[in-house]
Amino acid sequence: MATQIALFNHKGGVSKTTTAFNLGWMIASKGKKVILIDCDPQCNLTGMVLGFKDSDEFEAIYQAEGVRNIRDGLAPAFESRPAPIEAVTCEEIDGQPNMLLLPGHIGLAEYEVTLGIAQALSGSLVTLQNLPGSIFHLFDITAKKYDADYILIDMSPSLGPINQNLLMTSDFFLVPMAPDYFSVMATDSLAIIFPKWRAWSEQAKSNPLLKNAIYPFPAKSPKFMGTIVQKYRIRAAKTPSAAFQKWINEIEDGVKNKLIPVLKKNDMLLPDANYTNANITISEPIIQMSDFNSLIALSQKHNAPVFALTDAQLESTGIVLERTKKSMRQFAKLYSDGADKIIHLTENA
Ligand SMILES: Nc1ncnc2c1ncn2[C@@H]1O[C@H](COP(=O)(O)OP(=O)(O)OP(=O)(O)O)[C@@H](O)[C@H]1O
Ligand SMILES: [Mg+2]
Repeated sequence: MATQIALFNHKGGVSKTTTAFNLGWMIASKGKKVILIDCDPQCNLTGMVLGFKDSDEFEAIYQAEGVRNIRDGLAPAFESRPAPIEAVTCEEIDGQPNMLLLPGHIGLAEYEVTLGIAQALSGSLVTLQNLPGSIFHLFDITAKKYDADYILIDMSPSLGPINQNLLMTSDFFLVPMAPDYFSVMATDSLAIIFPKWRAWSEQAKSNPLLKNAIYPFPAKSPKFMGTIVQKYRIRAAKTPSAAFQKWINEIEDGVKNKLIPVLKKNDMLLPDANYTNANITISEPIIQMSDFNSLIALSQKHNAPVFALTDAQLESTGIVLERTKKSMRQFAKLYSDGADKIIHLTENA
């Protein structure tokens, strides 16, 4: 069965989508089959992967025959159609044969309220009892169709019922953060929200109506993989500048003193040895990535990861090209080390 990893933080703009694409690509380049799933109705990941510059370009995949995006995949359950959920036909990704995209859809947002009611009633309304397990079922049959090793889920910045469902039906979750005040505050709210979500999922897992639904609610117990800190500016010595280091320290303090105790109490951590063996210190970021600077725009222009742009795509020569290639190699190493930790942790869990 594929290992499902959710990228979650209700704080917006912390690099969830960028990380899903770059990290997914790196895991895929290590020989693992990866499916990226765009669960944000804004569809940024879909646009980024397929190189769509404006919304008109989505029409081609939305009008195509068959089940081609997340909304169409879930429609049989959410629109009470007398047909079963079918695996999605995913999009191939230029330059990375080991990675696929399950495209997003703005209409996914229409299912938020219904799912919220279904989850609040926990199966007591028979017409809604198939919904809480339907998202996992869709991902599961799609992963089986493609024989995927990993599913990476890009989520919207919200604490809504869809995110609650996605996180609690995943095997692991990563929390991307930016080194700023809001990310420090976000740690506090995560420490409040996780126990609530976990209490709901424990109830849902033991509820006979949800267990015996057409799409049974899966018996998952998601574990924290760590944080990813992004976009800090560096000093000449390649270490974060003092202002950013202060926020990185505060995030680490918050994770260590507030988040981890709560996760431990709620069975959302693996045993300590699993992290140590995977070379992870759980209170520290699993990946710490400085600002991509000029590479981010080129990455978006060429729909390629920040660490795998060709000389021609880098659009420079001489000393500038050499400097850019050097920084690209540093990002490649950071993503590669992060991917190794993740693969080790998941394969030995
Ligand atoms: N390390 C980085 N260096 C520079 N820019 C970055 C970096 N990571 C992400 N960005 C940029 O920051 C912005 C936000 O990133 P991204 O869209 O990945 O965040 P997000 O968490 O998915 O946002 P949202 O919550 O809106 O979905 C984007 O413009 C992206 O190109
Ligand atoms: Mg995003």
